[in-house]
Amino acid sequence: MDLKDKNIILCVSGGIAAYKAAGLASFLKKQGANVYAVMTKNALEFIKPLTFKTVTGNKVTTNMFDESDFVPHISLADLADLIIVAPATANIIAKAAHGIADDMVSTLLLSSNAKKIIVPSMNSKMYLNPITQKNIKLLKENDYFIMEPDIGLLACGYEGIGKFPDIEKIYGFLLQILSGKKSYFTGKKILITLGGTIEDIDPVRYISNRSSGKMGFNLAEEFIARGGNVTLLIGNISELLLSSFKSKYPKTKIINVRSSNDLYDKVIGFENDFDIYCMVAAVADYMPDYKADKIKNKNGIELKLSATKDILASLKKRKNALYIGFAAETENLTKNAKEKLKNKNLDFIIANIVKGEKNAIGNDNAEVVILNKYNEEEFRIDYNDKKFIAQNIIDYIEKLGKFI
Ligand code: CTP
Repeated sequence: MDLKDKNIILCVSGGIAAYKAAGLASFLKKQGANVYAVMTKNALEFIKPLTFKTVTGNKVTTNMFDESDFVPHISLADLADLIIVAPATANIIAKAAHGIADDMVSTLLLSSNAKKIIVPSMNSKMYLNPITQKNIKLLKENDYFIMEPDIGLLACGYEGIGKFPDIEKIYGFLLQILSGKKSYFTGKKILITLGGTIEDIDPVRYISNRSSGKMGFNLAEEFIARGGNVTLLIGNISELLLSSFKSKYPKTKIINVRSSNDLYDKVIGFENDFDIYCMVAAVADYMPDYKADKIKNKNGIELKLSATKDILASLKKRKNALYIGFAAETENLTKNAKEKLKNKNLDFIIANIVKGEKNAIGNDNAEVVILNKYNEEEFRIDYNDKKFIAQNIIDYIEKLGKFI
């Protein structure tokens, strides 16, 4: 699901993280939502309404008695698909928990039947104070959705719980609440390898492949949307895709890799650290002997290629982790993919056609067949754009998640 045409009311209360709410507003808007900011009087001390007006393109409400809109809390309350209070101070949490309605945010919370998310952000002592905790419990009992704050260095200098979570995390939480489903991937640590590897021949030349990273980025976006905590190991990919991904998800951890050996070291180095390994990368099967000096080509160049290590096959398979591979095939799609599923000891393999009109590699579209080790029937997704394919792959795996 995405946020297209959803009306989201972003309530900003007066904590230091109020400035981060502008980033959240902009992010939600980029995902297609209509965002309406409502600010408490204290929030105005930290950030100006103009910032929210600029990023959302909508009027910002700061006052219950705005003459241009006779009862703004009622019109916003009716309009909302979702209300999110981010950051939520101990004060607004206390007011919401006890039905106090003395400003625009608290009145809106009391008067709307929309789903409501609270993103607490404050000093750890205030957050852990039994009074705040009791108020949070009360809100939960009254159908509010509460996001756990992050742990870290807080603006007040304390180290502890109370930090405003990353925008990607809030987005994942929000999507789950809107869709009404808790995803299997929520909170899971997911490693995705993507792009092609580069095998250097000499200081000037290299061998690589046509992989663009499109499928990997689409899968990453989909895992993030379901609350996954994604790390990317990126090989040779389209720079344009990378910069657009980075601008959308600035907090997602990205590690660059070059050769298949480099990717091998990094993936194996992470063999105990992730819940899900998703190997989309197009790994070179052969590498040349690297020559430190440029090879002179007077008489043509002869390359001796040796086999690279099979990363997925070598990766230790932990009982509670999930291993997903991709297969690039020009013929015998299902038969070859089945062998790879078995030989590499995977949970799932997604077989792509990489030939003719439907060639997936480097292109925007793909046609895939998903095989699994659970003896469930294979699942085919007809030729479509990679965003659609990624959503359907993850939906399918999520459905079979019960086997893990
Ligand atoms: N893979 C890997 N290490 C390699 C080659 C591939 O980990 N040295 C992974 C890919 O990331 C992919 C899966 O194995 O998830 C299948 O890759 P593919 O290129 O389709 O198959 P290969 O194992 O290389 O076999 P072949 O080239 O003979 O089809």
